[in-house]
This record gives sequence, C-alpha cells and structure tokens, in this order.
Amino acid sequence: MANKSRGIVFLGAPGAGKGTQAVMVAKDLDVPHISSGDLFRDHLKRGTELGKLAQTFMDKGELVPDDVTIGMVKERLGQPDCLNGFILDGFPRTVPQAEALDAALAEMGKCISLVPYLRVRESMLMERLTHRWTCKACGAVFPYEAQPPRTGCKKEHCDGDLYQRADDNPETQKRRIEVYMKQTAPLITYYRQRGLLIELSGEHTIDYVYRILQDAIAISKYCGE
Ligand code: AP5
Ligand code: MG
Repeated sequence: MANKSRGIVFLGAPGAGKGTQAVMVAKDLDVPHISSGDLFRDHLKRGTELGKLAQTFMDKGELVPDDVTIGMVKERLGQPDCLNGFILDGFPRTVPQAEALDAALAEMGKCISLVPYLRVRESMLMERLTHRWTCKACGAVFPYEAQPPRTGCKKEHCDGDLYQRADDNPETQKRRIEVYMKQTAPLITYYRQRGLLIELSGEHTIDYVYRILQDAIAISKYCGE
C-alpha cells in the first residue's frame, strides 16, 4: 500500500527529548508535529472547558482521562495536513490509547511506520526538566544550565519570551515519571511485539540522537507492509 499515510510515534519518559527530536523530524519530513501536551496547553491558553479539565490533571502530573485525550488526538489526525504523514509526541501514553490509535488509523487508512523509544536514566530526566525553558511564542525548548536566560528565544528569528512550564517543578516531575513507569512503559512491549520499536539512548547530544533517528527513518521507509 504505497500511498498509505504513515506516522512516527515518539515514546519516552518526560524529559527524554521527545519534543526536541519530534520537531526536527517533522520539519525534515514536512509533516505535522502533534504533541498531546501542546494540544492541552493550547486549550488551556484559550480557556476552553477541555483545557480547564486537562489542567486539573496536568498540575498533579497525572494523565488526562483516555476518552478526552483520544477524542482530541483523533480529531487532529483527521485534519488534511495529516494526509502525507504525521509525528505523534506524547500520545499514546496508555495501552487503551494505543489500541484506540490503531483502530482510528485503520479507519482513516493510515498506519504507524516507526516508534523511536528514547531511553534516559531518571536522574538525567529530572535534571533536564528542572532546567528546561520554553518559548511562549513558538514553543521551542532550550536546556539552560542554571539561571533564567536573559535573552528571549532566538530560534529562526523568533523573539518570544521564555518561561518554565508549570509542571516542571520537582514534585510534579517525580509524579510524571512514576506515572510514566506504571502507565506508559508497557507501550515499549506493545510496540516491540508489533516490530515497530527502535530503542536508542537519548543521553547522547541532541545532534547525535537526531542523526541516529534520521538513519532509522530512512530504513523504515523501505520496510514493513
Ligand atoms: P507532555 O507535554 O507530553 O510532557 P511529557 O511527556 O511530560 O514530556 P516532556 O515534554 O516533559 O518531555 P520531552 O520528552 O518532550 O522532552 P524535551 O524535548 O522537552 O505532557 C504534559 C502533561 O499533559 C502530562 O503530564 C499529562 O498530564 C498531559 N498529557 C499529555 N499527553 C497525554 C496523553 N496522551 N494522555 C494523558 N495525558 C496526557 O526535552 C527536555 C529538556 O531536555 C529540554 O530542555 C531539552 O532542551 C533538553 N534536551 C532534550 N534532548 C537533549 C539531549 N539529547 N541532551 C541534552 N539535553 C536535551
Ligand atoms: Mg514534550
């Protein structure tokens, strides 16, 4: 089925670098980057009911209920810009979400071609989240060692202000990692059994991880159905 729209699903704990890599891969392949966390944060910014509901879970580091999340992502995947492919980041995060995604993609005539799993040890995840700064305007993320940066975002002529995400505090980070271990880590086996998973260390530099990903994506285009 040469014309089937194919997607890539990024898997990994909070802070593993999913968003960092997903943005670059999406640009490379010219397909949309769909981050469930960003979709929730956008609802939050717009003050929608969905956003208000999501916030109560996000603030605690808990997952937003499956039915709400699945509906939101399915709606996004049905948009015309996903016709030539898509990158999912942060979804699915539970086995029921993965099953719902498989069913929805089959209905839409789409499929998953690759699931990169970025493995990073917990101490490094905590370190990265503590020092992450995000651009209010374009959503780019930056690793800053200690102090808030004095300058704004400099990504591709953007000059948005940088902020720290409300859930990037030690207590919520810890809970997000616990929730990941319990509810999301089973997806490693789920996708490995389907022959879609590639596991790579996310502890290398951003550029090095990206180069490995580019190779894996190039190979995956010629494999599978
Ligand atoms: P979401 O926004 O998805 O957050 P997350 O999974 O907690 O992941 P992060 O965005 O924190 O990490 P990341 O892997 O993207 O890392 P990043 O690239 O930024 O979800 C937030 C909340 O929304 C959830 O807790 C939940 O409540 C809700 N939610 C979302 N999806 C849901 C779903 N499907 N179901 C239910 N609820 C859902 O990198 C982190 C930092 O490290 C950055 O500063 C970056 O610059 C740096 N960095 C990245 N790579 C490297 C590297 N190789 N070397 C050095 N530094 C690096
Ligand atoms: Mg992210």
